[in-house]
Amino acid sequence: MDGNGRWAERRGQPRLFGHHAGAKRVREVVEACPDLGVDYLTIFAFSTENWKRTQREVAGLMSLFRSYIKKEARALREHNVRVRFIGDRPGLDEKLRNLMDELEEYTAHCTGTNLTIAINYGGRDEVARATKRLACDVAQGKLDPQKIDEETLPRYLDTCVLPDPDLVIRTSGEARISNFLLWQSAYAEYEFIETLWPDFTNEIFAQVVRSYAGRERRYGGIAV
Ligand code: IPE
Ligand code: MG
Repeated sequence: MDGNGRWAERRGQPRLFGHHAGAKRVREVVEACPDLGVDYLTIFAFSTENWKRTQREVAGLMSLFRSYIKKEARALREHNVRVRFIGDRPGLDEKLRNLMDELEEYTAHCTGTNLTIAINYGGRDEVARATKRLACDVAQGKLDPQKIDEETLPRYLDTCVLPDPDLVIRTSGEARISNFLLWQSAYAEYEFIETLWPDFTNEIFAQVVRSYAGRERRYGGIAV
């Protein structure tokens, strides 16, 4: 969800104004998923690198996440949305962590759109944490190192119950991955679009999904 800061700056407003505008887009985008055939939506809200921002912006974002969860919980459940969080939770404050746990539990029975919110998430950090747990299992004799293959590590990732992404959309004109779902995106299709996140409408979402549907995915093979 990139471009909130620039969106605000262009209006002569503080960056947090842009983050609030960005958070408002999420509801509409989540609600568009069923019609677009999107069963899993992952949104990147805060990276392990975003702590480098000013204390004011970081605190504002954390407070926004708390109020977003409180405000949106009911609507999410009513729309049958199951919410999960990925990222390093111990690095977040307890109040936010509790709200995250509660929202996961509150929507655990929902069978519609699967919404994953990445907070304090970094792909490298995730792989490092997964490796640590994997190594512990080896040390305790629960995992035979000779049997480690491509299927092993994903079981230790935060996304262990989620499918790999088919399409990654990055807004705001930046053409980089910025540590998002590194392992999982090995064969994802990418769309880099100029729109700033607060201007991301469902029309744009539908357009990007349509253009994705026209792509040929070969997974390293050849066209059939
Ligand atoms: C939102 O956009 C992403 C978050 C970290 C919440 P940015 O805050 O990165 O906006 P720009 O890139 O400065 O415009
Ligand atoms: Mg940015």
